[in-house]
Amino acid sequence: MKIAVLPGDGIGTEIVAEAVRVLDTLDLKFEMETALVGGAAYEAHGHPLPESTLKLAKEADAVLFGAVGDWKYDKLERSLRPEQAILGLRKNLGLFANFRPAICYEQLVGASSLKPELISGLDILIIRELTGDIYFGAPRGRRTAVDGHFPGAEEAFDTMRYSRPEIERIAHVAFQAARKRSKRVTSVDKANVLETFQFWKDVVTEVGKEYPDVELDHMYVDNAAMQLVKAPKKFDVVVTGNMFGDILSDEAAMLTGSIGMLPSASLNSSNQGLYEPSHGSAPDIAGKGVANPLATILSAAMMLRFSLNQPEAADRIESAVQSVLAQGLRTGDIWSAGTTRVGTREMGDAVVAALSASITKKTITG
Ligand code: IPM
Ligand code: MG
Repeated sequence: MKIAVLPGDGIGTEIVAEAVRVLDTLDLKFEMETALVGGAAYEAHGHPLPESTLKLAKEADAVLFGAVGDWKYDKLERSLRPEQAILGLRKNLGLFANFRPAICYEQLVGASSLKPELISGLDILIIRELTGDIYFGAPRGRRTAVDGHFPGAEEAFDTMRYSRPEIERIAHVAFQAARKRSKRVTSVDKANVLETFQFWKDVVTEVGKEYPDVELDHMYVDNAAMQLVKAPKKFDVVVTGNMFGDILSDEAAMLTGSIGMLPSASLNSSNQGLYEPSHGSAPDIAGKGVANPLATILSAAMMLRFSLNQPEAADRIESAVQSVLAQGLRTGDIWSAGTTRVGTREMGDAVVAALSASITKKTITG
């Protein structure tokens, strides 16, 4: 089992270090190799996704990714900005299926900005298409307008597009995921305005016929954004395009109280995957040892389950995280009165300790 470890920028290095310690605690053999990515790679090699890093990622069974980005790179030309590293990995590895679960841990109900009764027990899975849509559509650029409201003016443009096979494959992923849950899929679109998303809706509906046991409904993206804060528990599996998924997954993440708790997985058709926390590099708190490592630790659990075929080890990590929350340990982002505030490293220590205890128990009881 080969894992490419790409910590990246900002808090990326701190949180990935804790996830690696957790993996090291398991009684499993991994080959882990670390490489630079994002701003850190730009500083060292002049490119956010150097050839050597891409090669390592391609050869690995899975990539454990931290986060990339820092305001100081905002002035660089787009192709050299840290974000291009994650976009380049998604594209080059064909990671079209992005899983972003939004689960509300019972102990953290109070950390949400929504009323407890709205989010207690929340368990949504957002499935975001990750290699198409306006993110990757060509042409794009700047030019002089020949028509529109201001002919002759400078303008910028992007291309929103989806092909039938791109929609079909993500729809299959969503229906299959729903079969393992409560058998409901909501497809989010903007079919009332956009040609691309009328097509999306039509194709998802066609694919849905192959899954008569799964209930499919459709929702416009603006309504979905509203329903997510109004009655989030009505959702189960949500499938949508790249850009709507970017926006709705941040919204869903925040329902749970902290984006610092949410892992994500991005998979290709051979189950090779990239695993990263749903949050970013948080340069404002980088280096202070206060970031929450749990989203990254939970991403490592997803990695074990989806790409490395070690579901038991994944369960053990998830139980260890539950147990540190039950002990009342909290990083600043999820802290509330009556709980114990800890830093990144102490949180990692606690998960490692809980995991070691469970491994010892397993050895004794067989
Ligand atoms: C995400 C991020 C990325 C995206 C950025 C960093 C390119 O916001 O993974 O959600 O827009 O996809
Ligand atoms: Mg995003």
